[in-house]
Amino acid sequence: MSKNVVITGASSGIGAALAQAFASKGYNLGLAARRGDKLEMLAKHLEETYHVRVAVTILDVQEDSTIAPALNRLAQDLGQIDIVVANAGITGVRRSGSGDISIDKAIMQTNLIGAIATLDAATKIFLAQGHGHLVGMSSFSAFSPLPGSAAYSASKAALTNYMNAMHLELISKKINVTIIHPGFIKTDIAPHMDKYPFVIEADVAAQQMVRAIEGKKVNVIVPAMPWKAAKGLMNLMPDPLLAMMFAKFMK
Ligand SMILES: NC(=O)c1ccc[n+]([C@@H]2O[C@H](COP(=O)([O-])OP(=O)(O)OC[C@H]3O[C@@H](n4cnc5c(N)ncnc54)[C@H](OP(=O)(O)O)[C@@H]3O)[C@@H](O)[C@H]2O)c1
Repeated sequence: MSKNVVITGASSGIGAALAQAFASKGYNLGLAARRGDKLEMLAKHLEETYHVRVAVTILDVQEDSTIAPALNRLAQDLGQIDIVVANAGITGVRRSGSGDISIDKAIMQTNLIGAIATLDAATKIFLAQGHGHLVGMSSFSAFSPLPGSAAYSASKAALTNYMNAMHLELISKKINVTIIHPGFIKTDIAPHMDKYPFVIEADVAAQQMVRAIEGKKVNVIVPAMPWKAAKGLMNLMPDPLLAMMFAKFMK
């Protein structure tokens, strides 16, 4: 029987690429984001191309009380949910000491609180049905914080820790947990992503992510290389050198 996957932030970038990668393998989909027109267009394309079922719902994860009802609607439309990908996320550059933390608050509300509310609502459904798979879209910045993106890096580090705790809590309940840490993926999340080092296309990243999810991996870096090597190397680099390196390519 086909499995059903719900993806938040499915209207563009990695979320849309994941929807396509899952659909190409016969998964049915529940797609959520704020831009309903984009979701409808993607749903039509996936239904026509891959003959899978696609349900759509408009969702703003900053309105965290609306997340559980949205997941319940998708569960009702699809009959059951097997996998939930908490992917919706934003970034934003803010220099420390600027005197305005509104960007930081929006990032935390979307990337951390929105993801927590998504994962909690999914877990409630999974506990009731006795199985399920939680997937969170963290970031390589959870391991190596980016200057100018302190809130973004912190939101992702917190999400990784939160989900590793969930993994230990849910291991005996037949609920799997996968935490994905992408390097740089070419999407619209930030201007000039195509100029970032080691950047890869979203569809290439999505195929690797689907393989990791199907393999029930817990902590995953996508793409594995060069980022696994970079993780070790960055731990050895002196901070002034790290700061100089980031300043060069974050312009
Ligand atoms: N691209 C990278 O290099 C990279 C690296 C590491 C991690 N990530 C993570 O990957 C995830 C996807 O990002 P992306 O690169 O694919 O960027 P993207 O193309 O900008 O996609 C972001 C998605 O999140 C949705 N979203 C944003 N705010 C939302 C909200 N309040 N409620 C519901 N949906 C919301 C957007 O849909 P609507 O605007 O239609 O709501 C969109 O579908 C994010 O969590 C990001 O942090 C990306």
